[in-house]
Amino acid sequence: MTPWTDRAGNFSPLKAATLAAVLLPGCWVLYLAATDGLGPRPITEAIHETGDWAIRILVASLAVTPLRRILDWPKLILVRRMLGVSALAYALVHFTLYIWDQNWDLAKVFSEIWLRTYLLIGFAAFLGLVALGATSFDRAIRALGRNWGRLHMLVYAIGVLAVIHYFMQTKLDVFQATFLAGLFILLMLYRLAHWRRFDIAAPATLAAIAVIGTLGTAAAELAWYATATGVPASRVFLANFQFAFQIRPSWWVLVVGLGMAAAAYLLPKLRPERAPRGRRAAAKAAA
Ligand code: HEM
Repeated sequence: MTPWTDRAGNFSPLKAATLAAVLLPGCWVLYLAATDGLGPRPITEAIHETGDWAIRILVASLAVTPLRRILDWPKLILVRRMLGVSALAYALVHFTLYIWDQNWDLAKVFSEIWLRTYLLIGFAAFLGLVALGATSFDRAIRALGRNWGRLHMLVYAIGVLAVIHYFMQTKLDVFQATFLAGLFILLMLYRLAHWRRFDIAAPATLAAIAVIGTLGTAAAELAWYATATGVPASRVFLANFQFAFQIRPSWWVLVVGLGMAAAAYLLPKLRPERAPRGRRAAAKAAA
């Protein structure tokens, strides 16, 4: 099986498009590096770029399962492993660039990791990704059986560590880190709702998740500014309602969450011939 074919060996446009999408940022960074486009500190800039893409792709891999249910798109599962392995690949390059930045002095690298909490947290996330990557081959999946699912629950802890690492290394503007944290919160809420047997294909459930996720994102941002910077919590909270300068990340999380609810509402109308979606709808149809 190649990265662009499905299990039956047929060409999969979805897999091919995903492969191109995950390779593109890496090629762009390489291009910038080759054309002196990374600024005065190219290795530092490349560390930032690869870190950004590692966490974005990690979050994308976590979105696969909820999106399959919400968009009623089972084939999406075909790209989950590719996304997970790509997040690991970007994290590996990110770490390698860091070692390069420390002149390949491994003793210094590990003493820095030990001494700086944000590096230690990033390193723990990296080790977690390595454990998941090493057990993502068909043979490992078969050998681990039911334990594979248990082991891969580690991805939630890795997500938390990666988000904290992102926040901690950000000096001033935590917009991007907050937005990614918000998407992560939404994704965890979808899972929680599913485990609690809510129908996550139902627009009302998704709208409720969007609102709770938005409040969670605003709370995470507030907690960060209040504990790490000493900025008064009230000022951070009120900034959410000042739209002239910037629309705060929690609103964008609301847009994404409500977008999911709108998709769940509209899709069945656009595809009326499809079987009923979601647990409750299926149970109603069967009754
Ligand atoms: C071996 C483990 C890791 C090390 C040593 C490491 C190191 C670093 C360093 C040195 C920075 C830049 C800090 C600065 O300029 O002050 C950084 C930023 C970052 N790292 Fe890591 N990291 C590790 C693992 C990870 C992992 C596993 C992820 C994500 C899955 C990640 C995501 C990020 C992100 C998103 C940034 C911020 C990029 C930006 O601000 O644009 N890192 N990391």
